Amino acid sequence: MTQKYRNIRPVEKSQWPQLYIETYGCQMNINDSEVVLAVMQDSGYSLCHTIDLADVILINTCSIRDNAEQRVLGRLDLFRQQKKKKPSLKVGVLGCMAGRLKEELLNHPAVDLVVGPDAYRQLPKLLGMASQGNKPIDIGLNPKETYADLSPVRLDPNGVSAFVSIMRGCNNACAYCVVPFVRGRERSRDPQTIEREVREVVANGYKEVTLLGQNVDSYLWSNPQNPTDCLNFSQLLEIVALVDPTLRVRFVTSHPKDMGKGVLYTMAMYPNICNHIHLPVQSGSNQILHKMNRRYTREEYLEHIVSIRQILPDCAVSSDFIAGFCDETDQDHADTLSLMNQVQFDQAFMFQYSERSGTKAANMYHDNVAENIKTQRLNEIIALQNKHALASNQRDTGKTFEVLVEGVSKRSNLEYYGRTPQNKVCVFPKATCTIGAYVQVKILRCTSATLLGVIT
Ligand code: 5AD
Ligand code: SF4
Repeated sequence: MTQKYRNIRPVEKSQWPQLYIETYGCQMNINDSEVVLAVMQDSGYSLCHTIDLADVILINTCSIRDNAEQRVLGRLDLFRQQKKKKPSLKVGVLGCMAGRLKEELLNHPAVDLVVGPDAYRQLPKLLGMASQGNKPIDIGLNPKETYADLSPVRLDPNGVSAFVSIMRGCNNACAYCVVPFVRGRERSRDPQTIEREVREVVANGYKEVTLLGQNVDSYLWSNPQNPTDCLNFSQLLEIVALVDPTLRVRFVTSHPKDMGKGVLYTMAMYPNICNHIHLPVQSGSNQILHKMNRRYTREEYLEHIVSIRQILPDCAVSSDFIAGFCDETDQDHADTLSLMNQVQFDQAFMFQYSERSGTKAANMYHDNVAENIKTQRLNEIIALQNKHALASNQRDTGKTFEVLVEGVSKRSNLEYYGRTPQNKVCVFPKATCTIGAYVQVKILRCTSATLLGVIT
């Protein structure tokens, strides 16, 4: 019999110390928590789902914007209350905030240990030190660590969709971004271990895999025995697509300065690679793109869009935007809106610029767009994007899509939700299908966020 998880130990087995993990931030962090769970489970811990049961709480953190950090600090205050109720409880801070805030975190009364993204193998040992009353910290970045040999313990409760990291770190230096500082130099994972993990995922009944990297287009593996023997991202994508034609393959994040047509041709060749590309543009103004050190122009970005639409006519494109970066003028902002009108993105993540200490922007530029102007520009971006998302969804009305059933709709027990290959969420009456099945759904109605349909 196949198993849905690499055995999350049942909570009832309370002879095991109980571990509670909370994750903030991106999909990479979710997958890191799965790696952490693998390490902890191998040392005899068992996952629990409430902090009241926990002997150890690990909080996997995100530093990308200030509000992400503030949420974590709020949670630490709550964990401090919990420690008053249960003095033996240990609390560890993991992830991106660990390396950025180090001593500040160690001095927090709730925190017993601080562990950076490349030190998760040390967690059991560090917890042992914490239980002897020490406050250990390991935030060293290890340019070789890819956790390639570990099989993550999947946290997806539905057992349908799994994340597989193909690389760690980032070698870009986008002026606003803290990621290269907190996650270190880019390193690509051995493709054999990626393929093995994807096969494991399939054997365990998963139907979809998302390959993760800060910049998947710069994935490059060279054979240590023969460095001229190299493998790039489109070749890796092909290997993964060939594992099983019924496995859906997705990937994030693409970078406009590195994405080549090879990836698009590979996507066109394999129907199981989903027609969706997340290609963050950040701004539509060349001056701002230059200042952000994104290393592409608006025109080059638009050329990618032309290629995508030529090679993959029904491919959805999503993006990220930052409103109110340093020195952004009304004209720069208008350029972003005009780029949005030209591309008409299917989905987007939109943010107000948040200065992060240590970055090039914090060191060299002034965060000089007033908060109210940032908010106003962000609201304009959101309003326009909602209009485009609604129009994109309306174009899908009347069409039929293959949807992978991912779970029961949050709004109604009588409905399932799943996603189309284009990554659009679709809700439909259950009929007779089960979670993990592929169904054909005819779209009858939509909102800007959701397609509503029926199984045909
Ligand atoms: N302020 C606001 N948004 C940011 N992002 C990254 N750094 C910042 C920052 N300092 C956004 C970018 C990126 C996404 C993951 O987060 O849009 O693509
Ligand atoms: Fe940050 Fe740029 Fe790297 Fe993305 S590509 S993680 S935005 S530095």
